[in-house]
Amino acid sequence: MSFLQTLVAVSAICILSSAPLIVVADTPQFEGYKVCTKCHDTHEQPWRDTAHAKAFISLKAGSRREAKLKAMLDPDKDYTADPDCLGCHTTGYGKPGGYVDDLPKARARRLIGVGCESCHGPGSVYREIHGDAERRLKLEAVSTDRSVLVAAGQYFDFAEVCAGCHLNYEGSPWKGAEAPFTSFTPEIDTRYAFDFETAIRKDAMHAHFKLYDVFKGQPVPSFREEFQATAEEIE
Ligand code: HEC
Ligand code: HEC
Ligand code: HEC
Ligand code: HEC
Repeated sequence: MSFLQTLVAVSAICILSSAPLIVVADTPQFEGYKVCTKCHDTHEQPWRDTAHAKAFISLKAGSRREAKLKAMLDPDKDYTADPDCLGCHTTGYGKPGGYVDDLPKARARRLIGVGCESCHGPGSVYREIHGDAERRLKLEAVSTDRSVLVAAGQYFDFAEVCAGCHLNYEGSPWKGAEAPFTSFTPEIDTRYAFDFETAIRKDAMHAHFKLYDVFKGQPVPSFREEFQATAEEIE
């Protein structure tokens, strides 16, 4: 081996050995609404009052008879264990930590319906950042970058999140549509047509509360300023 070859070989080994440790970040898990409302107790009742929180009930036999008949579903059938329905009527169905059949009752109760994490993302990693960031603001007067939340799995692209359930049907304008589809399409009734800009402002969404600079920077949804302008004060 020539001197040059040796040098190349040695430096290659150096580069390899100086490679940083590969840190496998925790995969964010779904945990259920209770971990969120422990801190965001303000949001619990406003969310409970929404159709989203109650979405599991619609799968029970006897509920929403007219709507089911119109959509060619059997109003006397129990759909609460039907994999074709659970994806949009529970939280994180089939994903890490999310709803699956035969969960212990207490755990199932935290994951039925469209929960906090259905819209904000699986929370096991970012929820800790929320608490840490609040302390950081209090102790050091420093705001934390929202990019950290994105990296921890928090969702900010709400149009896409809503589409995953509301525009998931055959012939949908949304390119991500794939089975199992919703039966409640604009073809069944025009009231099922989903316009994001209208829907995001409806009562089906929880009321908003003021945010206090714990986080800074992008991403911030286009409607944030509008919602914050009329948001309720906390404390
Ligand atoms: C340890 C307490 C704590 C927990 C647990 C927690 N949060 Fe937070 N969260 C906070 C604080 C504090 C803020 C910052 C509020 C502010 O800016 O005034 C925040 C901010 C947020 C924001 C706004 C982020 C932004 O863009 O500024 C959202 C949305 C949110 N939390 C949702 C959730 C959800 C969903 C969960 C459950 C998975 C959760 N939080 C769990 C304390 C918590
Ligand atoms: C995990 C699936 C899922 C996600 C994500 C989701 N929704 Fe829904 N949404 C539902 C289901 C299911 C219902 C019907 C609940 C019921 O009545 O059983 C519903 C109901 C609604 C309604 C009430 C419809 C009416 O007749 O008044 C509105 C408005 C709505 N959603 C808006 C949104 C918006 C805006 C987003 C995104 C920020 C969103 N949803 C995200 C599943 C979802
Ligand atoms: C791809 C997501 C998705 C799947 C899968 C899904 N749904 Fe839904 N479901 C929705 C959404 C979104 C709404 C709210 C529609 C609206 O009001 O605009 C809804 C609404 C409903 C409603 C209320 C309709 C009304 O007008 O009162 C019932 C009942 C319902 N779904 C039952 C079911 C059943 C039963 C299944 C399985 C056979 C199922 N859903 C599968 C997303 C889904
Ligand atoms: C159907 C979707 C949806 C569900 C379910 C949902 N949120 Fe939100 N949430 C939103 C949207 C959209 C915003 C506005 C985002 C913004 O301004 O950045 C928001 C804003 C927030 C904020 C920021 C402050 C505010 O009030 O605007 C917090 C905190 C929050 N949600 C917590 C929760 C908690 C806790 C739950 C469950 C108890 C929950 N959310 C359930 C969609 C949802």
